[in-house]
Amino acid sequence: MSRTRPRATRGFGARLLLTQALLLVAGAVTAYLVASLVGPGLFHQHLLEAGTDPSSSETYHLEMAFRDALLVAMGVALLVSVGAALAVSVWFTRRVQRSTRRVVDAAADVAAGRYDVRVPASGLGVELDRMSSTINELGARLEQVEGTRRRMLSDLGHELRTPLATVEAHLEALEDGVIVPDATTFAVLRSSTHRLRRLADDLGAVSRAQEGRLELHPVRVDLGGLVDDVVATETAAFETRGVTLRTDPAAAAVIIDADPERLGQVLTNLLRNALRHTSAGGTVTVRTAQDGTHAVLHVVDDGEGITPEHLPHVFERFYRADSSRTTADGGGSGIGLTISRAIAEAHGGTLTARSQGAGTGATFALRLPRA
Ligand SMILES: Nc1ncnc2c1ncn2[C@@H]1O[C@H](COP(=O)(O)OP(=O)(O)OP(=O)(O)O)[C@@H](O)[C@H]1O
Ligand SMILES: [Mg+2]
Repeated sequence: MSRTRPRATRGFGARLLLTQALLLVAGAVTAYLVASLVGPGLFHQHLLEAGTDPSSSETYHLEMAFRDALLVAMGVALLVSVGAALAVSVWFTRRVQRSTRRVVDAAADVAAGRYDVRVPASGLGVELDRMSSTINELGARLEQVEGTRRRMLSDLGHELRTPLATVEAHLEALEDGVIVPDATTFAVLRSSTHRLRRLADDLGAVSRAQEGRLELHPVRVDLGGLVDDVVATETAAFETRGVTLRTDPAAAAVIIDADPERLGQVLTNLLRNALRHTSAGGTVTVRTAQDGTHAVLHVVDDGEGITPEHLPHVFERFYRADSSRTTADGGGSGIGLTISRAIAEAHGGTLTARSQGAGTGATFALRLPRA
């Protein structure tokens, strides 16, 4: 990366002082010229009008007194204003320099990867305060991104380790002749590679979704019809597990502009989650309704529910309330809800979860703007 070297220039304080000095000199020269050219003439004129003798020594002394008083007044005024300007410039420069130095130091810290620096507001005006708050926002944002990146890498490592360890152990056992390659061996190997493939696919999808790069092909659809299609596909799995799947459609068609495939993906994930967390004999209901300008879809189950400590995290990447559960025994990678929420938001909607706690079931609400 090429960086342009900053031009060596005079500091801010010197520039400010120079500007002030130039202004003062210009003001003083103008005042002096005007006062010495116009003042004595006017004074002389008024003396004549008052009837004094121009050649008398009184007139001479009066004129001298006027000239001297003018000179002293101007001199004192100039000295005081130069002193005041100097004091103000030094004071102001110091304050500005102090706060800009703080901002520059903070920016350097951020550049060096220390994202927790914060600059206090200088109180020197909106521009400088905005500069401080922008640096603070930048730091906070990078801190958050770095946190997510670190967590994601560690989660990813954790996710990859289990299927890789399984494959490795089986290959070793095969090599050493500890096991023979039979249907079970291949099933285990296939399930591990399947998990790795799914992880790779999910990761791609979640990155695209969170970066807002999800390609949507919205069309005008009836939400009820979309629900019926997904429910028809998922019914068999529910029957196998002995869980009842019900739909509770809205009185009238609920029309939205949405990508049916993406919304189908959201609904499928919600239904599979509900099924995974509801035991035989339980019920899952998909309710469609209108709420003012929005279409609302609820997926309600009476299964194991979500405890208050887990509830705020279920939409996070790789988050699973029961992390001991793996794909092999019916668990997922904890990405489904992250992708689903990103899809809902890409449609200008929201996806939220509610649960009264363990054993009370869970409700997921998808709200989308109506067409
Ligand atoms: N209906 C539900 N009842 C109870 N807990 C749920 C329900 N839906 C989701 N959860 C909890 O939220 C976690 C995250 O769900 P998410 O769909 O993101 O991941 P997953 O289902 O574990 O894996 P994936 O969807 O990637 O296969 C789940 O692991 C589970 O702990
Ligand atoms: Mg899921």
